[in-house]
Amino acid sequence: MADQTAHEHATTATNNAPVSVEVDTSYENDSSYGDELSSYSASLTSSVLDYRHENGRRYHGFHDGSYLLPNDEKENDRLDMVHELCLQMLHRKLYLAPIKNPQRVIDLATGTGIWAIDFADLHPQAEVIGCDLSPTQPTLVPPNVKFVVDDIESEWAYERNPFDFIHARYLAFAVRDFGRLIKQCYRSVKPGGWVEFQDWDGQPFSEDGSLKGTGIERYFKEVNGAFESAGYEVRPGPKLEQWFKEAGFVNIHVEKFIIPYGIWPKDKHLKRLGVWAQAGAEAGYEAGALAVLTRYKEWTKEDVMLLASEARADGRKRGIHSMFNFYVVYGQRPEN
Ligand SMILES: C[S@@+](CC[C@H](N)C(=O)[O-])C[C@H]1O[C@@H](n2cnc3c(N)ncnc32)[C@H](O)[C@@H]1O
Repeated sequence: MADQTAHEHATTATNNAPVSVEVDTSYENDSSYGDELSSYSASLTSSVLDYRHENGRRYHGFHDGSYLLPNDEKENDRLDMVHELCLQMLHRKLYLAPIKNPQRVIDLATGTGIWAIDFADLHPQAEVIGCDLSPTQPTLVPPNVKFVVDDIESEWAYERNPFDFIHARYLAFAVRDFGRLIKQCYRSVKPGGWVEFQDWDGQPFSEDGSLKGTGIERYFKEVNGAFESAGYEVRPGPKLEQWFKEAGFVNIHVEKFIIPYGIWPKDKHLKRLGVWAQAGAEAGYEAGALAVLTRYKEWTKEDVMLLASEARADGRKRGIHSMFNFYVVYGQRPEN
């Protein structure tokens, strides 16, 4: 559960990105971290529900083929884990932009809708829209949230009825043209309104060379390469600030966070993030690689499973100190 109201007047969340991350060599508290592992309103046309079933996974039907990760139960569980990871990273804040009394809000590519639902609970006065290619969100939701099927990379019709706040999280591996998308956001937010993007630099790294030669490194080399050659942006995080500037936003604020992978950091907050990141990654290796490598690179399902299992196995090794950078960037459309 998000806790934005309790911290409404606090300063922005502490950036957790230290210069370097100290490794926990004691492992004495492993077990407690191990435990943690353990109104839809769109008109539903047949193409929206005409899901693609492939290699044992289910994919969206509307604009078939434009997003390469599944939309099934297993994937929805993973997205909810990543939501919890993001909440922990931001000390249970849903967003960092200094919004005041928002009336009209949209969550782009809302996934399971969990962010939009939490936001609607925190701001009962706001009308919240969650849009996605897949109509997989729950139906029992707060009365001020509704979900629509829409392609955020198509032309928008929102300029005529702009928003106070536009939010988008984790569109890496999903969107091809972030620059165009962020310009659409600029045109669709009210003067004085805010836009916030939260996204990955999808390239893992280690500070001590321990990632080199591992299954994790190989996985991201193959998968990121395939997504890039298919035209998707896999490292949007560090580029967000530039795209916000180019779109015309002012008062742009950038926060960079470290998300370690696994329980290896000594710092308790980072260790906790690492647990959630590992849980999400374990659920995501197959989901992330299957469609892109079988559709675009002619891999077999079995090849992908092997790649995923080697990454998963190395992800459990405490001597491999891998991590990701994650960015939260927000900006304001000028008042006039
Ligand atoms: C990795 S998930 C992130 C979901 C959600 N934003 C979150 O943070 O939990 C990416 C989502 O983007 C959606 N998506 C991908 N391309 C899209 C597009 N062109 N238009 C709308 N939604 C899209 C997918 O269906 C998926 O739900």
